[in-house]
Amino acid sequence: MIQNKARVAVLVSGGGTNLQAIIDAQRSRVIHSAEVTLVISNKQDAYALTRAKEAGIRTEVVLRKDAGSQEAFEEALAAAIDGAGIDLIVLAGFMSILSAWFTDRYAGRIINVHPSLIPSFCGAGYYGLRVHEAALAKGVKVTGATVHFVNEVPDGGTIIAQKVVEVLPGDTPEILQRRVMEQAEWIILPECVEAISASIIARKG
Ligand code: GAR
Repeated sequence: MIQNKARVAVLVSGGGTNLQAIIDAQRSRVIHSAEVTLVISNKQDAYALTRAKEAGIRTEVVLRKDAGSQEAFEEALAAAIDGAGIDLIVLAGFMSILSAWFTDRYAGRIINVHPSLIPSFCGAGYYGLRVHEAALAKGVKVTGATVHFVNEVPDGGTIIAQKVVEVLPGDTPEILQRRVMEQAEWIILPECVEAISASIIARKG
């Protein structure tokens, strides 16, 4: 730990607005028990990498195709995480399903943000815009976001926090995605990072 802060790794694949929310929460001291010390992307061109570099955070790119197998990919992720002495792993738009080998290794120390109210619109095949397309197709009147611990079941781990967001007439998947991010994800994810980091620090004494 850095001066009694949990060391956090954020795993990303895309735009990184949730990563940005965490960085901003560190600046505004909403997050004061954690420091993001590593950002890992499984996509070479993820804009999240630019956000990390602009914030002075070390980045690594770990590609599934370079690793050759899922096992080797997860071993490469674990090597980067363990090498950086990470206390908490945050999946923030990380579009890769992780095996029990990985999730067991970091049990209780790995969380994910999902853009629906689990158990609705979650699990394999529900990611990114697809979640909002499914919510609109079903005609739900409220949706939201969930932060949960990660286990070997996609979106199946213990729920930590949820926030409800209204679906409005005329919503497109893109409009709804943006509202869920602004009104739920960017709020509950930093709050959960802070709360879990504080408990990790307390446990370590
Ligand atoms: C977010 O809405 C996140 O909840 C979702 O992808 C988006 C990533 O945006 N994650 C999933 O669907 C995972 N199942 P971001 O890269 O701008 O944070």
